[in-house]
Amino acid sequence: MKRTVIRRNDMLGATLNLGGTPITLDEYATTGLLALAIGPRGNGKTNAGLLMAEQLSAQGWVSVLIDPENELESLYGDAVPDPDALRDALTRRDQPTLVVNARDAGEFVPFGRVILDAADLQRKPIFVVIDEGQLFSASRRRSNGIGEAADIINEFAERGRKRALDLFITALRYTGTLQRTLFANKNLTLIGWQEDPTAWSALAPQFKASKIDFADLNALTPGEFFCLSRHGVEKIRMPMAAALRAVAPKAKPVAKTLPATFNQWTRAMSAIPTERLVALSEDVVGLLSTVAELSPQQILAGQSAHQDELEART
Ligand SMILES: Nc1ncnc2c1ncn2[C@@H]1O[C@H](COP(=O)(O)OP(=O)(O)OP(=O)(O)O)[C@@H](O)[C@H]1O
Ligand SMILES: [Mg+2]
Repeated sequence: MKRTVIRRNDMLGATLNLGGTPITLDEYATTGLLALAIGPRGNGKTNAGLLMAEQLSAQGWVSVLIDPENELESLYGDAVPDPDALRDALTRRDQPTLVVNARDAGEFVPFGRVILDAADLQRKPIFVVIDEGQLFSASRRRSNGIGEAADIINEFAERGRKRALDLFITALRYTGTLQRTLFANKNLTLIGWQEDPTAWSALAPQFKASKIDFADLNALTPGEFFCLSRHGVEKIRMPMAAALRAVAPKAKPVAKTLPATFNQWTRAMSAIPTERLVALSEDVVGLLSTVAELSPQQILAGQSAHQDELEART
């Protein structure tokens, strides 16, 4: 049997500058790029995808930004109106950045199919940015078209080498949010701020050759990530994407101001008026905890501190 090693010549000489040592893509020529960014809301995941898209678009890729939040049209121009328009644009390749509005898996599927077709036909580099990947590739839920969307995304991930299709996808957490194949095959990983120590067990194997531990992840600020690439592990401070820099004021990296000592805690707690504490009903706490993605342990700890304080005041 004749075996040829397929290499992505388009990748040779290309680089990504994500704020650390420049990442040369030569090392990715035999696999394609499957990049994953993990971090909580506001951590800078979208910015990471946009930064990579801008850099790859300037080096011969056409970047397709799948935008569930309708936040990218104002940065990169009108979204393609329908799948046929996307097909045309991917054939012409005269626009380096294309925005696709897709609020959910169902809306994504027809656009996803067009991207697969274009990659099969043309084999010219396409970089797909899937923001809020959990909307399109959940590990368990297989309803609302998410099964089909997840299948398409898995195919994206498998076509890097032969079809010149590269992928960036974001997720809020390391486990349970995306299809396993994505975690298994990723080759560029950005890990942002981690609040929950229980998340460390899933992350630790990635860091086993380095001296990095949970406290290092817990100390990251917005825009900072640990970057795991073919070149090793490096802490990076990501530059802002040009389109964002033009409109967004830079978020100041604030030092975490959570109280550290018992005295600081008491002072912080006593500064909260009683009527505000009373207003924190179980429903409100439930809602806020869900929004903040707290773990059950964190919610319980918070509830009992809340209860203690209320009892101490009455
Ligand atoms: N590298 C950075 N340097 C400085 N500020 C940054 C950086 N990246 C992001 N920010 C700031 O943080 C804000 C949130 O960034 P971004 O939208 O990329 O986060 P996100 O992780 O995608 O959040 P969400 O889950 O809400 O979509 C940006 O509006 C920007 O002001
Ligand atoms: Mg975002």
